[in-house]
Amino acid sequence: MSGSTITPWVVGNWKMNPMQANAQQLIIDLKQQLKAGDILAGTCRIGVAPVSIALLTTKAQLEDATVEVMTVAQDVSRVAGTGAYTGEVSAELLKDSQIDYVLIGHSERREIFADTASVVAEKVKNALSAGLHIIYCVGESLEQREAGQAEQVVLQQICDISVVVNAEQWSNITVAYEPIWAIGTGKTASPEDAQSMHAKIRQGLTQITPFGANTAILYGGSVKAENAVELAACPDINGALVGGASLNAESFYQIAHAFAQSK
Ligand code: 13P
Repeated sequence: MSGSTITPWVVGNWKMNPMQANAQQLIIDLKQQLKAGDILAGTCRIGVAPVSIALLTTKAQLEDATVEVMTVAQDVSRVAGTGAYTGEVSAELLKDSQIDYVLIGHSERREIFADTASVVAEKVKNALSAGLHIIYCVGESLEQREAGQAEQVVLQQICDISVVVNAEQWSNITVAYEPIWAIGTGKTASPEDAQSMHAKIRQGLTQITPFGANTAILYGGSVKAENAVELAACPDINGALVGGASLNAESFYQIAHAFAQSK
């Protein structure tokens, strides 16, 4: 037990997976796990982030889950409102569809889709104005870690959005530390390394917002049922953002269970 008062979050980022029939089955299986399991309401906030075309069906399918499961968007447009922006989905459109949570700044968006620091900041600004809760992803590359720059890179990513987020709005932000070298590689950061970075992030947050002490800071990068208990025992690891292992209902459930039990 860490003694933390922060309710942990465990969110499955399904990325560009799975096909519709498999996604529906995954939700059936997850609901079954939650029904048969012993995660108590209020001990862990659970969410899943499907592809955008599945947000509404996922949300509808999760309505009767015995433990609440939030539906989370994987990204949002940097353009606000409505208008002639082919292919985009704005924060207001998400909110209008009762999708209240969104991932912003995932390293795959930053690296593959050119979400620069200023694009990410625009997305954050618009999402907060529309009343969404953000899971803001940060993390360093292997090269940056080996060059001793990990902390500086991650704290800079926090600073990048602090210019568009006022002190109160931080209560609508959850941070996810996802070292890029640990994503999809099977190489998890050691609990010590992850805890150390989380503590630095918390220190940075407390300097910019009174909510810093209570901001949930999730770890992401090869989280599995097998390493979740150890990670969950770290005082500043307040949950997990799970990729691959969230595509299996049992593994995902076990990760959520580990965090629900730990705090
Ligand atoms: P993996 O759990 O597959 O490493 O993915 C982590 C991630 O990127 C979650 O957003």
